[in-house]
Amino acid sequence: MNDVRLGRLVDVKEVTETVENLVEQILDNQEAVVGLSKLQDYDDYTYTHSLNVCIFCLSIGKALGYSKDRLSVLGVGALTHDFGKMLVPKKILNKPGRLTPAEFKIMQEHVVRGVDYLKQLSGIMPEAIQVAFEHHERHSGKGYPRGLKGEEISEFGKIAAVVDVYDAITSDRVYHRGMIPSKALRKIYEWRYHDFDPELVEMFIKIVGIYPLGSLVRLSDDSIGMVIEGNQTNSVRPKLLVIYDGKGNLLPEPKKLDLSSVLSMRILGTLNPEEIEIDIKKTWDKYLL
Ligand SMILES: [Fe+2]
Repeated sequence: MNDVRLGRLVDVKEVTETVENLVEQILDNQEAVVGLSKLQDYDDYTYTHSLNVCIFCLSIGKALGYSKDRLSVLGVGALTHDFGKMLVPKKILNKPGRLTPAEFKIMQEHVVRGVDYLKQLSGIMPEAIQVAFEHHERHSGKGYPRGLKGEEISEFGKIAAVVDVYDAITSDRVYHRGMIPSKALRKIYEWRYHDFDPELVEMFIKIVGIYPLGSLVRLSDDSIGMVIEGNQTNSVRPKLLVIYDGKGNLLPEPKKLDLSSVLSMRILGTLNPEEIEIDIKKTWDKYLL
């Protein structure tokens, strides 16, 4: 829950409830449980990615007003969407450089191989399998494996596509550093007509927040702060913990600042945590827990 990438979607109680529900259902389905633990053994990144995709999918599903049953189907689909990666050789899955065209083809096959795998499990709804089948399809028709376009893609497939890309580009991998959440959201917003369902993109950005928790921002007086609480009514005025003053001096004790009540100040932009000497998680734990 401290994961910056998750932003302010963590209406902890509600998400926990849905996840608990989901876990109960999945525990009834031994094969899916076995699949998930096999995935964790095979590739820890894909496992964590699947959990994140599940949380994001569920929060969009909730915003769309899905029933509990429908959320469960979506959640199972999200958790199992990359099962096919277990059938991709590890040296391709975690290759530090660019994939050759032949390797890329094998990587892309994780979709159909995953779908074949899931079809053999009893008790997984066909709609859940759509998530695996369609999460790499793109609104423009340039996705794979079937090149489906716009409305040919199911709502589950469209939700999973947005969330899958967001989690992938914000993740640190051997070969690249993850993008900071605000930049990733900007990218996804740029791609919204070409790759995604634009309405779902806007909904997702609202859920994560323009300035996800833990984002670093520069203020109009040049001081630097960390976002510690979102603002539901005015998302550009969150609550902050100011860490550096306007002259670039580290404050001996960070100061809380509620931008919704200090209208003379505003956020100029976000900063990459690497540009500044600050350990977000440590600061968070020290001053906020
Ligand atoms: Fe995938």
